[in-house]
Amino acid sequence: MSKEKILVIGASGQIGVELTLALRRIYGNNNVVASDLREENDLLKGTGPYVSIDVMNKEMLHVQVIRQNVTQIYLLAAILSATGEKNPTLAWNLNMQGLLNVLDIAREEQIRKVYWPSSIAVFGPTSPKVNCPQQTIIEPITVYGISKYAGEFWCNYYNKRYGVDVRSLRYPGLISYKSSPGGGTTDYAVDIFHQALEDKAYTCFLKEDTRLPMMYMPDAIRATIELMEAPAEHISIRTSYNLSGVSFSPSEIAAEIKKHIPEFTISYKPDSRQDIADSWPQSIDDSVATSDWNWKPEYDLQMMTKDMFANLH
Ligand code: NAD
Ligand code: SER
Repeated sequence: MSKEKILVIGASGQIGVELTLALRRIYGNNNVVASDLREENDLLKGTGPYVSIDVMNKEMLHVQVIRQNVTQIYLLAAILSATGEKNPTLAWNLNMQGLLNVLDIAREEQIRKVYWPSSIAVFGPTSPKVNCPQQTIIEPITVYGISKYAGEFWCNYYNKRYGVDVRSLRYPGLISYKSSPGGGTTDYAVDIFHQALEDKAYTCFLKEDTRLPMMYMPDAIRATIELMEAPAEHISIRTSYNLSGVSFSPSEIAAEIKKHIPEFTISYKPDSRQDIADSWPQSIDDSVATSDWNWKPEYDLQMMTKDMFANLH
């Protein structure tokens, strides 16, 4: 294990901070190089090496991969759903070219493993709403969803054609307390905790009954590491695995928060993110992940809410 040298690209983001810290605990601090376009996140400072990398600059990335003797790459740099709709060209360029740069370098340098996350955003209004299966109709309506779906097929292509061991999960909306979310449609489920503590009130940008697939960050980090540590012959999906944690609506999470803060109130002022949310499934069937590499989530809404407040307090 100590022979591995891991590069995390997008390490200062919502997932990157926690994934980098988790990988450092497993592989050793100096064997996990954090990188990002923006400055090093405070929580990473002093925990291991950090380099500034723009994933769009392929030459610079290539030099760092060789210089650092990288054996695994986790690519997290992307523009998420809501921000992507504000600048579709930018989102497409970063989400596609960033991935292609990493896949090309992985092929040329024979990188042992690559991780790249997809999203529930690949699904569109024509996909089944409840228990959306691994293989189904997939017609995304956001540039983010289109880029993720195209990216899944590039991963599959590089695996089948060049033997690159690239693995992927379709994350649901992720809820965490360590680092802030980066412009997604599911961000309300993080903001609501902060506002509940600060103001005892929250105005939600989605309607009260908008049920979406979500997951608590410790489950997402564990899923990522379990997928990456599974034997290659167990990985039957080389596009991206469906992954399920817990599904809830704004009114359901508000009711759970009220158990901790009885005076908490919620109001609703849906904006353009409602259309994005309405196009996604309400719940996900992740039985292929369960049968291939024994995936099982731990956190339900109650456990997650309790843990969020315990840590945010
Ligand atoms: P985030 O926006 O919090 O973090 C992304 C990081 O990438 C940021 O720190 C940003 O500075 C960095 N970055 C942007 N452009 C870069 C560039 N050119 N070069 C290097 N770094 C750059 O996003 P996140 O929530 O941590 O998401 C990480 C990945 O997981 C993304 O691919 C995202 O699509 C996927 N995902 C996230 C969620 C979620 O709920 N957070 C759900 C599904 C999928
Ligand atoms: N949480 C992400 C978003 O809302 C899903 O990929 O964009």
